[in-house]
Amino acid sequence: MPIALTPRILQADEVLDQLRALRRRQAVRYWAFYSSQLGGIVTDPALMVLPFDDHMVHRGHGVFDTAAIVDGKVYDLEAHLDRFVRSARTSRLTLPCARAEMRDLIVRTAAASGKRDGSIRYWISSGPGSLGLAPAAGAEPGFFVMIFAGLAYPEAWHTHGLRVMTTTYPIKPPLYAVTKSTNYLPNVLIQMEAQEAGLDNGVFVDGAGNVGESSNMNVAFVGEDGVLRHPKFDHILSGCTSLRLLDLARGLEGRLLRGVQVCDIPVAEARAAREMLLIGSSVKVAPIVEWDRKPIGDGRPGPIAQALRELLERDMRSARDRLIDIPY
Ligand SMILES: Cc1ncc(COP(=O)(O)O)c(C=O)c1O
Repeated sequence: MPIALTPRILQADEVLDQLRALRRRQAVRYWAFYSSQLGGIVTDPALMVLPFDDHMVHRGHGVFDTAAIVDGKVYDLEAHLDRFVRSARTSRLTLPCARAEMRDLIVRTAAASGKRDGSIRYWISSGPGSLGLAPAAGAEPGFFVMIFAGLAYPEAWHTHGLRVMTTTYPIKPPLYAVTKSTNYLPNVLIQMEAQEAGLDNGVFVDGAGNVGESSNMNVAFVGEDGVLRHPKFDHILSGCTSLRLLDLARGLEGRLLRGVQVCDIPVAEARAAREMLLIGSSVKVAPIVEWDRKPIGDGRPGPIAQALRELLERDMRSARDRLIDIPY
């Protein structure tokens, strides 16, 4: 729609019409949205809105996390809530309600969506009330839950593998890297840079020359010695998928793997790996077959990526202690 250069003052029903027209121009798959500011759940995407002066919008002062709905259950929500609450603390955000209440609101919003598979993203914002830097006096923290179709990646990532590059953007300093803040500028830039180079994603490297992570996923390696190595979590986001996978991978020791280590991984060592893996809630586990235009291993998806993906997919459907039933 062209920008209105001679704008007039709109009535509330005209605003609603415009919000609906916006959604018609760009169809989205957002199925249900809870907002503490609205005090309820909406299913019309045009109504999934925030006040523009919420600090999360104009200062990036908010945190978020994403969990999966798998076959009518929420997977590993407690691990995601651990990270969410930790990120809120680092960001000096007040929890809008108790953790158990947030969990309950997430599950209820999932139920309202009626969907048995999808993604749940939820946010804490520092709230509206000023355009200043520190939150407004008396600002009420907001809590929001979105049930949506999730990020979809090409099946070829699994069957043929991905191609990545070392990003030219600096890695976030550790405090910000371990915090899942809504300030994702470096994460956006790394992905745009890779796409513009005709590649699938980028890799951050830290100042000491050790591997960090990708845009919104972790990376790990299988060395020529058969050891699965993952970067330490003190300078990258602690991926819930990686943490779970490292546990599951220990079950492969003595068969497909010689060991599992969380350690610093110098780039030179990483490049000599037999397999390189991309790991995250949405991608699960995918093989990276090329890094900076050079093959990893023999340049083809390897057996560990495949085995770990299968382990994770099984876990997502069968780990009773990590699944919450959604009361549709
Ligand atoms: C920067 C970053 N690293 C890693 C991950 C992987 O985390 P998870 O496995 O919890 O999806 C994410 C996704 O949230 C991320 O944004």
